[in-house]
Amino acid sequence: MAAEVPEDNAPDECPQVRDLAEAFKVLSDANRLRILFHLATDTTGTLGVSDLAARVGISQPAVSQHLKLLKSDGLVESERVGFHVNFTLNRARMVQIAGQFEQVRSIVLSRCNQQLVREKIPEGPLNIAIIYYSYSGITRGLMEKVQEVCGGDLIEIHTLKKYRSFTAFTTGCLRSRNEEKDQVTPDTIDVSAYDLLVIATPVWAWKPAPAANSLVSGLIGCAGKKAFVCTTYSSNPGHCLPILKKNLEEKGVVVAGEAAFSRRETEDSHHVMELIRMIIEAYQT
Ligand SMILES: Cc1cc2nc3c(=O)[nH]c(=O)nc-3n(C[C@H](O)[C@H](O)[C@H](O)COP(=O)(O)O)c2cc1C
Repeated sequence: MAAEVPEDNAPDECPQVRDLAEAFKVLSDANRLRILFHLATDTTGTLGVSDLAARVGISQPAVSQHLKLLKSDGLVESERVGFHVNFTLNRARMVQIAGQFEQVRSIVLSRCNQQLVREKIPEGPLNIAIIYYSYSGITRGLMEKVQEVCGGDLIEIHTLKKYRSFTAFTTGCLRSRNEEKDQVTPDTIDVSAYDLLVIATPVWAWKPAPAANSLVSGLIGCAGKKAFVCTTYSSNPGHCLPILKKNLEEKGVVVAGEAAFSRRETEDSHHVMELIRMIIEAYQT
C-alpha cells in the first residue's frame, strides 16, 4: 500500500486543495449542513442559537459548537445586538468554495480525458494542427482544451487590422456575409506534416468569420489531408459549417467530422469530451 503523503510535504497540484479540504471537513456533518440550510433560507438576518436549536432539533450547546466550527472556516458570520447574537451565512465564502470545487473537478476531469486519449491512442499525442481564429476568446478557449488533451500544435490566426466591437458588427459582418477574406497573420500555413487538421472559427453573420476564409485559403500542402471543422456561436450557426467545409473541399481537403458549439456548451465538460471523442474518431478513420 502506498504511504500517505505527510500533509506539509504534499505537492498540491491545485493551490486551493488544502483550503477546500478544510471546508469539506467543516461541511461533513449533517447538523452543520442543516444549520447552513436554515441560515441560507433565512431572510431576517436575526437567527440566534436558540432559534437554530429549535429548527434543527438539537441542544443549544451543540448548536454553539457547530457555529464555532462554521465561523472558524468563515462560512458563518455573527453580529452582537445587545444581548442577542445574530448569525448569517457568508455567501462570499460559499461562492469561493463552489469555485474551488469546480477548479478541482475540472482538473480531475481533464486528467480523466487525457487518460482516455492515452488508452485510445497508445502511440502518444495526436499529430494534429489545431488552426483557429478567435475574436473574443471562446473559440481559443475551446481549442486550448482540445490541445491540452489531444496534444498537437495550436496555431492562432490574427487579423492585421484589429476589429473593435462596432466595426466587427458592421464591416466584419458585411465581409463575412460576402464571404470575403481579411488580411491575416500568418497568411500561409504549411500543414503537409500533419495527419489531421482541426479548423475552428466563430460564426459571424451566420457564416465563418472573414479571417477563417483567409485561414483556409492560406493552407499549403493540404490536398488529401483530413480535417475536422468546428464552430462556436451564440444562438444560430447558420451556414457557417457548410461554407467552411465547401472552402476546404475546394482545396482538396477531406472533411471527416464537424461540430458546432454554442457558447454555453464550450463550458460544459461533457460536450468538450464529446468533441474530443469525435476528433479522435476522425483521426483514426
Ligand atoms: C461580429 C459578430 C457576429 C456574430 N454573428 C453571429 C451569428 O450570426 N450567429 C451566432 O449565433 N453568433 C454570432 N456571433 C457570436 C459568436 O459567434 C460567438 O460569441 C462565438 O462563440 C465567439 O467566438 P470567439 O470568442 O472565438 O470570437 C457573432 C459575434 C460577432 C462578434
